Amino acid sequence: MYKTILAIESSCDETGVAIVEGGIIEVASALATSQELHKKTGGVVPEVAARKQLEYILPVIAQCLEKAQVYYRVGSISEVIERIDAIAVTVGPGLSGSLIVGVESAKALALSWNKPLIPVNHLIGHLYANFIGKTANDLPSFPAVGLVISGGHTDLILIKDHYKFEYLGGTLDDAAGECFDKSARLLGISDYLGGSLLSELARKSNNSSINGVLPRPLINEDNFDFSFSGLKTAVRRLYDNNPKAPIEDISAEVQSSIVEVVSVKVKKAVDKYKVKCVLVGGGVSANLELRKGLNTSINVPIYFPEYRLCTDNAIYIASAAYFKPIHLLTSEVVVNPGLSVTDII
Ligand code: KG4
Ligand code: ZN
Repeated sequence: MYKTILAIESSCDETGVAIVEGGIIEVASALATSQELHKKTGGVVPEVAARKQLEYILPVIAQCLEKAQVYYRVGSISEVIERIDAIAVTVGPGLSGSLIVGVESAKALALSWNKPLIPVNHLIGHLYANFIGKTANDLPSFPAVGLVISGGHTDLILIKDHYKFEYLGGTLDDAAGECFDKSARLLGISDYLGGSLLSELARKSNNSSINGVLPRPLINEDNFDFSFSGLKTAVRRLYDNNPKAPIEDISAEVQSSIVEVVSVKVKKAVDKYKVKCVLVGGGVSANLELRKGLNTSINVPIYFPEYRLCTDNAIYIASAAYFKPIHLLTSEVVVNPGLSVTDII
């Protein structure tokens, strides 16, 4: 195992670099984002994201190394570099231009510093966010159920051990975060990444007369799949047919539908596989109602990342690399935008 890992994450519109020890201790991290630019266009323009990442990557690496120099109290950056045992990088899934920036930068560092290079699956990385800041005594134990819930993914997996995964199910169409965002857009809340704004509005809902009117897609199906695209259509119909319904109530109802479906499916997986805990990761894991819904329906410990680690970050990419078994460390490092959650690279 390589103890001290410098990781790079650039799968979407963030450019992150972090140094982590033992998969759990954050030494230093730096992050830049081009999100403000994408707000103007109502979505990520891949080429714009990649161009910004090219601009950010070297300053972000430098910033992370400088922070590590302070952490280690050493006199030079080369003394920081000496302490780094390996480089890790997200190879997918994500936007190919963005991934290339991170992967090629990581290769350059590995070559010039003469360190091994570890490829990481971004989706698995999201789950390792739950290892950061833990002590040896409170690390998640296996078997566990993993829920990756973000703008692009809603996946349920069984984690038998580090890097021993079994796919249980996932969304057949829109991801949960996508449904939050598309609902926010059609309710006029926000044109881009409106999920968290929608959930803030939902908190203000009081005495709603529309509780339970939206469908709970696939909730009673005997599988671990999700489908959120019909829900978005139902939200539009509800909105059009109830012009007087407060937007707060519609928001609360959208959120309840997503949270109920996800909670029921996760509970079903917990009961079926008799796991010791649940690991949640991805942007939507910041949602408070989801945290509440899972906590009330499930009777094993549920790990949620710190809020800053729900979104894309290199910190947990380093953790995912640390816990990768040694026999899996020999693979070729190539960008793989279409990687799925259980693909081991
Ligand atoms: O993991 P992430 O940063 O990017 C992807 O890989 O997709 O997730 C972003 C998603 C967006 O859909 C965003 O609206 C959603 O996570 N999100 C939320 C909340 N915070 C972020 N959705 C619901 N409630 C929130 N509090
Ligand atoms: Zn992500």
